[in-house]
Amino acid sequence: MAKTKTAFVCTQCGNDSPKWIGKCPVCGEWNTYAEEIISSKQSPDRELQGLSNYETLKSKPVLLQEINTGDEIRLDMCDLELNRVLGGGLVPGSMVLIGGEPGIGKSTLVLQTALKLKRFKTLYISGEESAKQLKLRAERLGTNNENLFILCETNMEQIFTHINNLKPELLIVDSIQTVYTERVESSPGSISQVRESAAILLKFAKETGTPILLIGHINKEGSIAGPKVLEHIVDTVLQFEGDQHYMYRILRNIKNRFGSTAELGIYEMRQDGLREVNNPSELLLTQNHDGLSGVAIAATIEGIRPFLIETQALVSTAAYGTPQRSATGFDIRRMNMLLAVLEKRAGFKLVQKDVFLNIAGGLKVNDPAMDLSVISAILSSSLDIAIEHEICMSGEVGLSGEIRPVNRIEQRILEAEKLGFKKIIIPQNNLKGFDTAKSQIHIVQVKKVEEAFRELFG
Ligand code: TYD
Ligand code: MG
Repeated sequence: MAKTKTAFVCTQCGNDSPKWIGKCPVCGEWNTYAEEIISSKQSPDRELQGLSNYETLKSKPVLLQEINTGDEIRLDMCDLELNRVLGGGLVPGSMVLIGGEPGIGKSTLVLQTALKLKRFKTLYISGEESAKQLKLRAERLGTNNENLFILCETNMEQIFTHINNLKPELLIVDSIQTVYTERVESSPGSISQVRESAAILLKFAKETGTPILLIGHINKEGSIAGPKVLEHIVDTVLQFEGDQHYMYRILRNIKNRFGSTAELGIYEMRQDGLREVNNPSELLLTQNHDGLSGVAIAATIEGIRPFLIETQALVSTAAYGTPQRSATGFDIRRMNMLLAVLEKRAGFKLVQKDVFLNIAGGLKVNDPAMDLSVISAILSSSLDIAIEHEICMSGEVGLSGEIRPVNRIEQRILEAEKLGFKKIIIPQNNLKGFDTAKSQIHIVQVKKVEEAFRELFG
């Protein structure tokens, strides 16, 4: 019987050490080391039963210039948004990790995709839900697929025996934290298990050219649970995010070996599954807010996708000692900074006001160009003066109240124009080489928040 070997592994970054340490020398986190059994192999080259049956391609060095990229084949996922995020479809032999909070819709997304992909023999490995639950979900999604196999199994050795028999063309693993291999003795979900299982799957993907969709849990800090190494192993990392209480979901690409990470997909969660949202602006704008104060429309860009989104603010007199601050879809510290700018520039008395901020649809938009609309919505609510509904805006606000230039201004202007807006407020000196004569929309350039306020509230 071989001796079990243990090591202390940082749960944050996956660094290992033979003894326990309080502060990780790699990621600097405190108290993250946990003991794990790293190997109990009888013989070092004991292969997985299932895996060894594959004929492995013998690798040999080739000249870079002789490598034929040809027309890179991409598998159409039958989902415009998913294709877009993947950079034009799934690459054969690639491993894609989909991370996200529990209940956000990861399983729904992959099951829905698997149901649509009728051309491929797909194997869906579920370690979280029973076959019955999956069947119920599939019924809810309303489609059927005769080429989709469900396997409720978490043992990798067993899984590979089935893979060998079935020879699927697409493999789905829901989730990587539930599967385990006998090669490693620690429990499922532990760092060494996740790392080892992912490595086995990767080997399979590369050797057979079978694409794999992996689902990964997210920890409380919002990164993918388990080691960072998991993100290094896979080819593409997608993050599925959104507010559970709202119906919109964003699928973001945070790493992509086969395309850009600037693309993002937008979905709407409905009773019958996720619906692709190809034109986000139309959904994120309330149709009729004419005359309502506290609403400002921002022309934003997420990745490389422009869309218009509604910012709503409610300012009321603080009834109790400490004023309340709340923000949905926006960084609350950033909002506090903007409130301080307002206090300085517009005589807004911070201490006496409760401020509530909401970005339509519960979406978290990371674009700094949201600042101007946030600050305008707050002031609009505070003054109780509505902003004309044909105006939208874009601009980052600096500490001294200056409006800073933002990226891709042309795209923002064009999107606003397309949606029928009459006026757009943008930062000064942002329009380099953009021909304003051609655009129908009235472009107002401002340098300071005061100028924007004068434009909006007279
Ligand atoms: P799920 O895919 O199980 O999330 P995850 O795998 O990320 O944990 O999504 C579960 C949620 O989605 C659940 O709260 C119900 C909701 N849902 C719908 O609103 N409509 C649907 O058609 C489906 C299948 C789920
Ligand atoms: Mg799930």
